[in-house]
Amino acid sequence: MHYDYLILGSGIAGLYAALLAARHGRTAVVTKGPIEESNTKYAQGGIAAAVGPGDSVATHREDTLRAGAGLCDPEAVDVLAREAPDRIRRLTELGVPFDSDEGRVALGREGAHSRPRILHAGGDRTGDAIETVMVRRVGEAGVDVFDRHAVTRLRIEAGRVAGVEALDPDGRSVLLNAPRTILATGGSGQLYTLTTNPAVATGDGVALAWRAGAVVRDMEFVQFHPTALRLPGAATFLLTEALRGEGALLRTPPGGDRGGRRFMPDYHPLAELAPRDVVARAIATEMRRTGRDHVLLDISHADADFVAARFPGVHQHCLRYELDITREPAPVAPAAHYQMGGVYTDHWGRTTLPGLYACGEVANTGVHGANRLASNSLLETVVFAQRAVEASQRGDAAAPAPAGTIPLGLAGETAPPDRAALQSLLWSNAGIVRDAGGLAAAAAAIDAWGPPPPGLEGATLGNMALVGRLIVEAARRRTDSRGAHYRSDAPAQPADTGDAHLSFVRAGAP
Ligand code: SIN
Repeated sequence: MHYDYLILGSGIAGLYAALLAARHGRTAVVTKGPIEESNTKYAQGGIAAAVGPGDSVATHREDTLRAGAGLCDPEAVDVLAREAPDRIRRLTELGVPFDSDEGRVALGREGAHSRPRILHAGGDRTGDAIETVMVRRVGEAGVDVFDRHAVTRLRIEAGRVAGVEALDPDGRSVLLNAPRTILATGGSGQLYTLTTNPAVATGDGVALAWRAGAVVRDMEFVQFHPTALRLPGAATFLLTEALRGEGALLRTPPGGDRGGRRFMPDYHPLAELAPRDVVARAIATEMRRTGRDHVLLDISHADADFVAARFPGVHQHCLRYELDITREPAPVAPAAHYQMGGVYTDHWGRTTLPGLYACGEVANTGVHGANRLASNSLLETVVFAQRAVEASQRGDAAAPAPAGTIPLGLAGETAPPDRAALQSLLWSNAGIVRDAGGLAAAAAAIDAWGPPPPGLEGATLGNMALVGRLIVEAARRRTDSRGAHYRSDAPAQPADTGDAHLSFVRAGAP
């Protein structure tokens, strides 16, 4: 089958790219699960943009750079903050029902933002609202959708990405051809035991691009969301940072000397609204100190009707477990949430492979640095999806590889016996706190597994092991602490942080 554009992935990045691409030619979306199943659907807090009174593009830019701990690409951040208001306008025109308050757009506050800047929809159901609109619009635009199709290979012809090989729902091989492929496959939270990400977030895009010879960058930076629900028998579930933006406090559980104590002021002047890496590490420290598997997130002091209306998704989800957040605190713990690293792109979504573009969580555009500012992720998708389509129409060549890219020869493709084996290995050895010994042990364990078995789950396990190995390798080579990458054997962030990234390419790639 021949198309002008293949879009891999069906979160907001993929569907927004598909809508724009469809204006230029035949477009197909290829996605592993049902079309709506993606990280986007589960996003709660919202989408950041400097659209409120007293806010400015410059302030948004500064906040993003500060959270990124010296590793953001300032030009990419400039693009992000500058183009944000236009993309919000476009999403509104497409029908995204952003919440308003007395006729003005309602803006929430999240960690490390110096202003209320987060647009939301349906209270804390922002992602679901966006995904629903995008799915409808893509249908109306006549885009073909290959759902439940798992891409197994990017096909290279004459030095260009020329299409993909995929497995259909019955396990049959399908070939799709296109001169332009846009990778929008999302992240890899499933590599960790606790994650806010759905089962489809297995790092497939990074693995596909790596095998095809694309450069990947910043793989050591995995963001752990500080507050995921931690109840016995309940699946991990995000409790949005917007709760802290509305005044929720973090306390240790009752009991012991520090029982019931609000602890974040001990760690950072911004307390509960400190950057996400700071809050996640503080919670992990308190959990270690108290010997508990959680801390408490408490918004019970706020007006109950307000909490129920502003956070209907969280409120109702918790009620299923007989936990009423308007009356009592919720047990929470950090969980893997977002991959800051990914397939390297320039400011136009171009990867280092001709014919291959990337946007959204799978891409490493440079906007997040070592630690993503809350709610910049949905924004990044629409800013760089549009740029990728525009660049592809100009017939742009590939991005040059970043200076200092390291050719990396890994021991060979392996797969864990099951997801849990990889998840617990990375959770313990390449999680919130890392050290040289644990990282070396993780690398050795991954290298010692056997080759991926045939079939879809085997391919997925192979992708997960490969992405895990890249995370471990980058974390081993970054021997200081920076943003979300924290080494207990080198905890101090050097005063001269420099701007050195770790970029890898498969040894022997053309
Ligand atoms: C949240 O709602 O806390 C998540 C927002 C984000 O990850 O940007």
